[in-house]
Amino acid sequence: MLRSTFFALLLAGTALQAQPQPAASADAHPALWPKVEHAVKRDPAIEARIDQLLAAMSIEDKVGQLIQVDIASITPKDLETYKLGSILNGGNSGPYGNETAPASDWLKLADEFHDAAMKRSDGRPAIPLIWGTDAVHGNNNVVGATLFPHNIGLGAMRDPALIRRIGEVTALETAATGLDWSFAPTLAVVQDDRWGRTYESYSEDPAIVASYAGEMVRGLQGDPERTDFLGPRHVISSTKHFLADGGTGGRDQGDARIPERDLVDVHLGGYPAALAAGTQIVMASFSSWNGVKMTGNKSLLTDVLKGRMGFDGFVVTDWNAQGQVPGCTNESCAAAINAGIDMFMYSGDGWKTLYANTLAQAKSGEIPAARLDDAVRRILRVKLRAHSFTAGRPSARPEAGKFARIGAPGHRALARQAVAESLVLLKNDGVLPLKPKANILVAGAAADSISQAAGGWSITWQGADVPNEDFPNAQSIWSGIAETVKAGGGTATLSPDGSFAAKPDAAILVFGEKPYAEFKGDVPTLEYSPEDKSDLALLRKFRAAGVPVVAVFLSGRPLWVNAEINASNAFVAAFLPGSEGGGVADVLFRKADGSARDFRGTLSFSWPKRPDQFALNTRDPGYDPLFAFGYGLTYAKPAAVPVLDETRPAGLAASGKGPLFGRGSLAEGWSLVLAEPGESSARTRAASLRSAHGLLTMAPIDRRAQEDSRRFTWSGKGAAVLALEPDQPIDLSRESNGEEALIAELRVDAPATAPVALRLASADGRIARVPLASRLGEAPAGQWQTIVVPLRCFASGVDMARLTAPFGIETMGALTLSLSDLRIGQGPAGTPRCD
Ligand code: BGC
Ligand code: BGC
Repeated sequence: MLRSTFFALLLAGTALQAQPQPAASADAHPALWPKVEHAVKRDPAIEARIDQLLAAMSIEDKVGQLIQVDIASITPKDLETYKLGSILNGGNSGPYGNETAPASDWLKLADEFHDAAMKRSDGRPAIPLIWGTDAVHGNNNVVGATLFPHNIGLGAMRDPALIRRIGEVTALETAATGLDWSFAPTLAVVQDDRWGRTYESYSEDPAIVASYAGEMVRGLQGDPERTDFLGPRHVISSTKHFLADGGTGGRDQGDARIPERDLVDVHLGGYPAALAAGTQIVMASFSSWNGVKMTGNKSLLTDVLKGRMGFDGFVVTDWNAQGQVPGCTNESCAAAINAGIDMFMYSGDGWKTLYANTLAQAKSGEIPAARLDDAVRRILRVKLRAHSFTAGRPSARPEAGKFARIGAPGHRALARQAVAESLVLLKNDGVLPLKPKANILVAGAAADSISQAAGGWSITWQGADVPNEDFPNAQSIWSGIAETVKAGGGTATLSPDGSFAAKPDAAILVFGEKPYAEFKGDVPTLEYSPEDKSDLALLRKFRAAGVPVVAVFLSGRPLWVNAEINASNAFVAAFLPGSEGGGVADVLFRKADGSARDFRGTLSFSWPKRPDQFALNTRDPGYDPLFAFGYGLTYAKPAAVPVLDETRPAGLAASGKGPLFGRGSLAEGWSLVLAEPGESSARTRAASLRSAHGLLTMAPIDRRAQEDSRRFTWSGKGAAVLALEPDQPIDLSRESNGEEALIAELRVDAPATAPVALRLASADGRIARVPLASRLGEAPAGQWQTIVVPLRCFASGVDMARLTAPFGIETMGALTLSLSDLRIGQGPAGTPRCD
């Protein structure tokens, strides 16, 4: 009976995958899911206390518990009036607006929020709030914290015991700042490495994620079997993002179009272990399953997670994810609560509106009273288990204010061990281990960049360009090498550009991906640095000069680096090691007695042979990786790597990111198109072009350099469109759901004689327009100006997931306009308008 249900589901899944319309079902069948034995039992005393609290709370109080607001959008004073359940700091929100605030400021602000929340004069119960933070690789928003390798590197260690200790240290450093809750661990089982969050995943293999999940939860929260569970040395853990965030085809906040069986067999991965170990909070995924947003999926949140699997903590949304549920906005979403969400994570100015709307929905019964009480009960249960009612002011807690804990030597030593264990040796022709008593050249701008080693979620959300001074307790990879070489009697020289006067005995090139987080890291193929091959050139230069070269590759995912591997004598995948760069030297160099610490890391993600092998996983039929899951050389067991194929397959997908036009050239895979309605359009990657009847012409001009810009002349004798088109439709749906914008540097040479529109077109034939005239008029003719139009302005008019022309300018009038730069990126601060 059950068997036939499986087959029916499997068949349904396959048939619907081949033909995605109508959508496959997004209703889960709880009987297919495992039951979980929970280490944290229901405590009658806590339940009785909740009954008392619920009886004494007003409906306003109850609704307040359902809301968590980003500290960038709320002040302690607000908490005197609005008794909210929680606050968070987003990746870019430091205390008092300061990203690099000292630890004492975090604690001070935690006290201020706590005091305001507890202030009550109406006799109703005062309920402490809890503060959530993304302590995802250490307490990484706080300056000086120990930063552990990102999860992808930890996955390579295959060391669950070390994971537990990392969790403990992260909890201690978080507790030192007075914060209560970490948005970790991420249990994504990433199946497509184009996703910008691949590095937040321990592995493509659910078994590895499962072997870590419970240990990380125990490390953060403490052991449920011991009295210190959620005690002063611990913080609450929330596992994320439930469910199948890693199954969306490499798209951030995408849609996992997979059968239910895959949810259970692949993506559930670490959840049973995390739940069994007592994780108290689950964050719903931004993503969808078969077209339905997880934030609104009752069958998964309520029937499966809370019902079948018996989860009795609470479910929080991701950052304003409620606004993506059909019929909802960020400020109003009864549907999410009714589906099983217990708390909204909100950022923005409208939290009072969210509160007012939720209150009205609770009063009208749109949110049934029983559902409201159940959500509040779950939140209070977690707070009571975490001793929030008795812990007192954050600064009064026994472990708070111990700022020497933050980046303490013992913690850093643990992180350094994790770095050494996480490195994966992909190739070694015998050059490694290096003798420290030698002349070593360390090349690459990344060698002395702690931010590049730390990656996203480090001080800032994106982690980009954070100066070394803002990582006071950290050590760069270069500095670790310098220390080791010096101690061993050799000389190390840092040369970011790789130049040298005297020929070194060996060179180490540290290079790789620049930091990114979330969708900013989504890529169209796995080719490493398609636009800039200078690292490869440097490797080849060393080889040509007869200098043996070791490549230390920093990346958030496996990438296609066949040419770089060929050009290196040894190649080390270092992933994103964090603050303890010294762990790299620990494995690369021999010790004084001639022995060497061996590599331990083995791939937790399959390494591709070609740039288009982005969905490469062990379970695939016809699995054909370059380095298989589990691969990793050691000194004890060396092996030769043959010369690899460097041929770049034709027709690789274009990127819809960053500069589309600049310095006179178009991004790869893009063309400029001049169109007249009803005529076949003219298209080129060159500098000059004429539309069918010459209504629109393009010619090169100079702005900063020779022929770095283009001038477009509309004759005014009929409508004509200038557009930029990718070879294949691109998906900017994630980019259009935020602050990303079209940013153009333009100059009006002769003003328009008729309205001008900026337009986007999608594969379904739809076109969305935003008037440009008033913007173009802002700078005098002949002067360059930057025009920023948020992508969201077009979102309702086109299919953002299949854009055929993500940029276009159209007019019927005469107009002469020059363009020097065009890119898709984050606009300047403030909200650029749409009109
Ligand atoms: C991310 C979450 C994170 C949250 C708070 C979201 O955008 O998806 O992983 O915990 O922001 O920063
Ligand atoms: C926040 C992050 C959040 C992201 C969501 C950023 O501004 O700092 O915490 O995850 O927005 O897109």
